[in-house]
Amino acid sequence: MSENWIDLEKKYHLQIYGRLPVVLVEGRGMEVYDINGKKYLDFLAGIGVNNVGHCHPKVVEAIKKQAETLIHTSNIYYTIPQIKLAKKLVELSGLDRAFFCNSGAEANEGAIKFARKYVSKVLGRDGGEIISMYNAFHGRTLTTLAATPKPKYQEGFYPLPEGFKYVPFNDIEALKEAITNKTSAIMIEPVQGEGGIHIADRDYLKAVRDLCDDKNIILIFDEVQCGMGRTGRMFAFEHYKVEPDILTLAKALGGGVPIGAVLLKEEIAKALSYGDHGTTFGGNPLACSAALASVEVIEELIKDNRVIEKGKYFIRKLENLMERYNFIKDVRGLGLMIGAELEFNGADIVKKMLEKGFLINCTSDTVLRFLPPLIVEKEHIDALIDALDNVLAEIKE
Ligand SMILES: Cc1ncc(COP(=O)(O)O)c(C=O)c1O
Repeated sequence: MSENWIDLEKKYHLQIYGRLPVVLVEGRGMEVYDINGKKYLDFLAGIGVNNVGHCHPKVVEAIKKQAETLIHTSNIYYTIPQIKLAKKLVELSGLDRAFFCNSGAEANEGAIKFARKYVSKVLGRDGGEIISMYNAFHGRTLTTLAATPKPKYQEGFYPLPEGFKYVPFNDIEALKEAITNKTSAIMIEPVQGEGGIHIADRDYLKAVRDLCDDKNIILIFDEVQCGMGRTGRMFAFEHYKVEPDILTLAKALGGGVPIGAVLLKEEIAKALSYGDHGTTFGGNPLACSAALASVEVIEELIKDNRVIEKGKYFIRKLENLMERYNFIKDVRGLGLMIGAELEFNGADIVKKMLEKGFLINCTSDTVLRFLPPLIVEKEHIDALIDALDNVLAEIKE
């Protein structure tokens, strides 16, 4: 049955995704089902989207109710779910204002525009240079691609927009050296996702904040992947007690419905006026209602350090495997954003885990990435570890 759909996809869809050979048709909580009725435990959660699990009843209810009331109108008018969501995110983050869009790349694109506008209009500094990190991933639009220094992603798409510079992550001296009087903003994922689960050092983010304050540079945190409860706090920056000037969100924000957000400080917001930026779909009632429900569920799920504890349990289990399989070079993570680095490409392990009924992923070629829904329980983690143990044992032979 699945073959027919796969053949049709190969015929009609642009061939840009290296897909695994399953057609997924249903999801509930931690579980997803393929078209043949096979069950999988989802340890990838749509690459960090389904943080509340699949089809969470509260999100489904909110979507249903909103779909029956008002799906879309225009940002020419006021809509209540958008206002409620802006208030909620501002209160949670400590930033002052929200702008809504449709994806992570679009949120970062907005963040770059807002930072450049503020620095040129208010601080009177031209240049608009943005410094981002090696191993970063900020999106696939031309500008966010320019902030994503991976040749594999950039090649063939030149010329990219100007004004981007890269430095090694967690290296404050390199950052200091890269700053010029043209620098407008520094863009960082507090936990790098696609780059292979690299966690910012505590002292590093503090030093970056000080540097930005000292030189009047905007600090942008891209929490598209590491935000919305993923690391055990609503926002990853809470672990560091370092606040950004601009924060970008997407992925898990809408509980599966596409939505992105840029949260920003009032001082930067003041540099923007009517017509400076906008979007047709961004922040529509349907997406905002789904997001409000999703944020409320996440607030519950991260209470009492529950996600942090689950993450520690998961990491300990992976470390036990690392002791037995010396081709696992490192295990690292924060909350439920976890990576296990191998000495070789992990694509085969991902395929074998799929056969055993587990969705995982491998990023940056060698890092097995685990981003389960925050509702994951110890029994699910134990089941995954058992299956992984078997797969690793086969590989060792
Ligand atoms: C940190 C980060 N920023 C931006 C993006 C781009 O988001 P989107 O795919 O929604 O455009 C991603 C996607 O993986 C991401 O992980």
